[in-house]
Amino acid sequence: MKTAIVYASTHHGNTKKLLDAIAAAYEVDLIDAVKIPEKDLNRYDRIGFASGIYYSKFHQAVLNFAAVNMPQNKQTFFISTYGGKADYTSIEKALTAKNSVLLGKYGCKGYDTFGPFKLMGGLAKGHPDEADIAGAVAFYKEITEEK
Ligand SMILES: Cc1cc2nc3c(=O)[nH]c(=O)nc-3n(C[C@H](O)[C@H](O)[C@H](O)COP(=O)(O)O)c2cc1C
Repeated sequence: MKTAIVYASTHHGNTKKLLDAIAAAYEVDLIDAVKIPEKDLNRYDRIGFASGIYYSKFHQAVLNFAAVNMPQNKQTFFISTYGGKADYTSIEKALTAKNSVLLGKYGCKGYDTFGPFKLMGGLAKGHPDEADIAGAVAFYKEITEEK
């Protein structure tokens, strides 16, 4: 089973920290949707989407990538980091009509210095921490274990 994770991690690299830990433990191709807007994903069995949450949505580059490049009938999963709370509605909408099978979702806090939060020293300082990162690796193991 070949896996790719398409991501955007533009604020503090919070989401990328989770992905680097997953990619260090498992055979996964990471695709930065900000740099690579189009790619043929047919050779992958599982395609995950990962992003910080920006204005309650996944990064627009990830949403565009999903709409343009996601093949039909693939397994998928979602990973997010956020200052306040996760919201997967945007990526779910982007995958409408792709007949994807959702394996699971993982989210954790990510250091957030957007707008007024910067003045307060930021939200969720220190996140993702070691436990958050270990949680992401455990999530990946759980959803990809051959059953
Ligand atoms: C422009 C902008 C908008 C954001 N909007 C939200 C939001 O609506 N909800 C939320 O919980 N966090 C929000 N955040 C915080 C980010 O989701 C959080 O810091 C995340 O970990 C960033 O991930 P990254 O470092 O991988 O880009 C926002 C951050 C930025 C820069």
